[in-house]
Amino acid sequence: MSTAISPTAYNYKVVRQFAIMTVVWGILGMGLGVFIASQLVWPELNFGLPWTTFGRLRPLHTNLVIFAFGGCALFATSYYVVQRTCQTRLISDSLAAFTFWGWQAVIVGAGISLPLGYTTTKEYAELEWPIAILLAIVWVTYAVVFFGTITKRKTKHIYVGNWFYGAFILVTAMLHIVNHASLPVSLFKSYSAYAGATDAMIQWWYGHNAVGFFLTTGFLGMMYYFVPKQAERPIYSYRLSIVHFWALITLYIWAGPHHLHYTALPDWAQSLGMAMSIILLAPSWGGMINGMMTLSGAWHKLRTDPILRFLVVSLAFYGMSTFEGPMMAIKTVNSLSHYTDWTIGHVHAGALGWVAMISIGALYHMIPKIFGRAQMHSVGLINTHFWLATIGTVLYIASMWVNGITQGLMWRAINDDGTLTYSFVEALQASHPGYIVRALGGAFFASGMLFMAYNVWRTVRASDPAEAEAAAKIAVVGAH
Ligand code: HEM
Ligand code: HEM
Repeated sequence: MSTAISPTAYNYKVVRQFAIMTVVWGILGMGLGVFIASQLVWPELNFGLPWTTFGRLRPLHTNLVIFAFGGCALFATSYYVVQRTCQTRLISDSLAAFTFWGWQAVIVGAGISLPLGYTTTKEYAELEWPIAILLAIVWVTYAVVFFGTITKRKTKHIYVGNWFYGAFILVTAMLHIVNHASLPVSLFKSYSAYAGATDAMIQWWYGHNAVGFFLTTGFLGMMYYFVPKQAERPIYSYRLSIVHFWALITLYIWAGPHHLHYTALPDWAQSLGMAMSIILLAPSWGGMINGMMTLSGAWHKLRTDPILRFLVVSLAFYGMSTFEGPMMAIKTVNSLSHYTDWTIGHVHAGALGWVAMISIGALYHMIPKIFGRAQMHSVGLINTHFWLATIGTVLYIASMWVNGITQGLMWRAINDDGTLTYSFVEALQASHPGYIVRALGGAFFASGMLFMAYNVWRTVRASDPAEAEAAAKIAVVGAH
């Protein structure tokens, strides 16, 4: 065994850029979330202008939180993890820089085109064809950088976190390219290549796997690196992680039809989607348990380490939303939950509780390292952020459960003579208190991001460029 310090350094520049933009887009996307949540309480906030209506700002919110905030977190952490676990620098600095600037250009394109009303109308795939093509080019470049780096690795095996990141990158490319097949009729208008029920099926094959591979598999890659690192314990079971990987990616791809229950989609396809969704509970919980059990012998650290708390609570919410999802996929349950706020509650249990919390935990772990600091400026502020995020998530999802079940039951209530017991407006009135609580919960969560921004800014300001460079040097321990 020999220990050597290689002269080549990791490319931390692109990691720093994506990490900072994660915080920036997080604040904007969640701030917009609070704004549209407030529009549902006070409709005057639509301002009577087309650009500021709920209908146009809602897709901007989803694009900013999923692709800008979540996407930047995935780029930042995957570039960091692949370099460290492969003990090698990214294969190309210029291609990595292209992915950074290209990705920001896509987001700015979304920020301009969506409020102007340009949209394909397909949820989570709203961007019109010129921006969608740029996105495809950036994504293929990302795949070249990621897999290229893996091929020149200095370690023998490929760490499991990279398997998850790799699957997320490949499947996202496939989904985006297939679902965006369309015929452009002008610079900002295109029509889908698919028609009718086929179009719906392709869209929700895309939509569900965007959840499965973008919002889940990528973040599981994050989990497999940052949970063991922060807990300073090896992953509970490497064997389970391999079973988890193959089971998850094999099953997710079939579950899309649960978004189309009781529609023109053939019945057998709906039932297949339902069955696969129920089976999906097993690998989802296998992964959650693998993450949680990694803390065996380290549970006491939760008392003093708010970063670890972020990571563990994110796993708890992951477990919760992946239990709720399979239940909602059962057709009879879906007949109550579909169209109601229950879906919105489920979405944000996953989005705030899982996706945002694990990203925030990973960033708090990573930022001092890439800026050459021993730790974040203030651990106290991380703790404040943790409580704001946790309370915010609970307020959000609890209010949406109450609203969802209230709406579902009121809509289906029927008098003896077959007429509806409640009008739609009565159900809306009953939802009003829940909307206030949701906006409040969202404000808690978003204000936590401001604490994060301040803490990051102080950490970055105190960073010493020489130390940051030294931190980027590749320490090859036990060189082979
Ligand atoms: C402060 C935090 C947030 C607030 C206040 C918020 C608020 C909202 C609101 C009001 C809606 C529209 C609901 C409706 O149409 O009835 C929405 C939709 C959505 N949000 Fe958020 N959001 C937040 C954070 C996030 C994050 C971090 C993500 C993802 C990582 C996310 C993903 C989504 C998605 C996917 C939808 C569409 C859900 C659907 O169509 O079923 N949100 N959000
Ligand atoms: C085993 C895992 C999961 C299953 C089986 C599942 C299942 C479901 C079901 C049945 C719906 C409602 C479909 C409808 O009535 O239209 C739904 C909606 C949704 N779920 Fe999940 N879910 C799972 C995990 C997650 C996670 C972890 C997230 C987020 C990170 C998530 C995000 C979403 C989103 C964004 C929607 C709304 C889609 C839309 O209508 O716009 N799901 N899910």
